[in-house]
Amino acid sequence: MKFELIKVNTKIAPQVALIELNRPKELNALNQQLMGEMRDALAEMDQDDKVRVIVITGNEKAFAAGADIKQMAERSAIEMDRIDQFSTWDQINKTKKPIIAAVSGFALGGGCELSMLCDMIVASETAKFGQPEIKLGVMPGAGGTQRMTRAIGKARAMELILTGDMISADEALKMGLINKVVPVELYLQEAINLASKIAAMPPIAVKMAKEAVKKAHNSLLDDGLMFERKNFYLLFNSEDQKEGMKAFMEKRPAEFKGK
Ligand code: CAA
Repeated sequence: MKFELIKVNTKIAPQVALIELNRPKELNALNQQLMGEMRDALAEMDQDDKVRVIVITGNEKAFAAGADIKQMAERSAIEMDRIDQFSTWDQINKTKKPIIAAVSGFALGGGCELSMLCDMIVASETAKFGQPEIKLGVMPGAGGTQRMTRAIGKARAMELILTGDMISADEALKMGLINKVVPVELYLQEAINLASKIAAMPPIAVKMAKEAVKKAHNSLLDDGLMFERKNFYLLFNSEDQKEGMKAFMEKRPAEFKGK
């Protein structure tokens, strides 16, 4: 398959495949094309007997700085609902093989949500996680309110989502959001090593075990995801969303009016 916004290497290590986000100038902002390519690559890897575990990574500066604000800024709530950009994420979430996120630099908004959709997260010391959507007049829309709350608990998730603050890799480790933190020159190799360890396990048992762990994690998740998504799309009817995203693009502080 030919991809433009991701790079794929199905032989990074025996039975381990790598997907690299490839919009470096935009800090890997997740536009619809990129997420569509990721969905297609994962669907293909899920069918490929030579791949047992998948690693998703960005670059040293950014795993991903969120959904593409420029692509969404002018949309209305009705358009958001019709385009339903996050439906791609549902298919990604159905991947049966384990996925490990190798995160360095910014994992913000949709980037943080993508890392949390993965089954495990290996981070570099420079990684920064956060859900800054509130500063844009919106809220997380790709699973953040649900997955983060399950991962680190209500009080901490509430604080991060309502303030938009970022946390360091060490803080994320202490909160139980991620699996390990290593020096920046090692994070990708460390993720590949973890993938290789799992790839050496019996693949049918791995698949069934992943399914069972997700079952424990997912009860009521689907309802929560739909609720979150509707509210996210709805916010595109507010003036504050238009102002928040415009201010980001014009590189100035936003002035929110509560309208
Ligand atoms: N969407 C679109 N473009 C983005 C982007 C995003 N999420 N994040 C960064 N970029 C672009 C910038 O606009 C800039 O482009 P130009 O050179 O054309 O101006 C380029 O990437 C480099 O970014 P900066 O110059 O801002 O880099 P920096 O190092 O000064 O700052 C940053 C880095 C703090 C991550 C800053 O880019 C930032 O705050 N980005 C937005 C983070 C954010 O709000 N994410 C949430 C998005 S909404 C969402 O994700 C909804 C959801 O639930 C799925």
